[in-house]
Amino acid sequence: MIIDKMNDIKTPIISQIEERVANIPGWSPIDQLYSLFNLVYLTTELEGDIVEIGSWCGRSSAILGMAAQLIGNTKLFCVDLFPNKDDWYQNQDGSYSMKVSLAGNTYDAYEKQTVWQEPFERDIAPLYNQHNSILDIFNLTISQYKLEEIVTAYRGNSNNFISSIINQNEGFKCKLVFIDGDHSYDAVCQDIRSMEPYLVPGGWICFDDAFSYYDGVNNAITDLIINSSNYELAQQMTRKFFIARKKLV
Ligand SMILES: C[S@@+](CC[C@H](N)C(=O)[O-])C[C@H]1O[C@@H](n2cnc3c(N)ncnc32)[C@H](O)[C@@H]1O
Repeated sequence: MIIDKMNDIKTPIISQIEERVANIPGWSPIDQLYSLFNLVYLTTELEGDIVEIGSWCGRSSAILGMAAQLIGNTKLFCVDLFPNKDDWYQNQDGSYSMKVSLAGNTYDAYEKQTVWQEPFERDIAPLYNQHNSILDIFNLTISQYKLEEIVTAYRGNSNNFISSIINQNEGFKCKLVFIDGDHSYDAVCQDIRSMEPYLVPGGWICFDDAFSYYDGVNNAITDLIINSSNYELAQQMTRKFFIARKKLV
């Protein structure tokens, strides 16, 4: 019963979202978070869990987690390289990329689509003044909202997340995938291809930074979602948020 679990069923959910994310650093705007919340509600009758690729400090995860908690019977897996301060390096043009070493493997990110110098210095570098790792900030967000039982953080990319989860749970399925990791064409295609086999019919796949500034994201969505016969109801919902539903048959 959704109603029993609501903290405050009379306060507009959009106000609750605004309040919850007010102090969480990140890039998902309120209208997008509201759309994400509603998408989770649309999956109430579906089986499977939710996967977010690209969680950063947990801004969108806090809302996906809140919605998952309200509909019940749903876990949220947050997949991210969760970079430490030393994982970042500056490129010759001033922009930034990262190289993350995990269990003997090195993962490059923001190599083709680098992070511009100004947003890096304004929004990213200051976070490391108080925390060595983005995972520490993410964990604080999750504990602040008491979402530990709903949310599992996975440090890695979509490919190794799938290998790991399938090892633990052969029947793994998901009903909603939110893709907001590396914005290069190859990385977005990898994220879609990794998750597609596990997305249940009627489940939703959605993207941040769609049809705004990132050709890699736009082209991956066009090639693998819009031009695919596997999806329906494809739609840009807000300024940079795109959704599509996996066909029922
Ligand atoms: C734009 S941020 C995510 C923002 C977040 N969804 C929010 O609402 O604030 C992108 C995230 O993707 C992560 N990332 C980059 N490349 C990745 C990859 N190949 N696999 C998983 N995560 C990746 C970064 O560490 C970063 O946390």
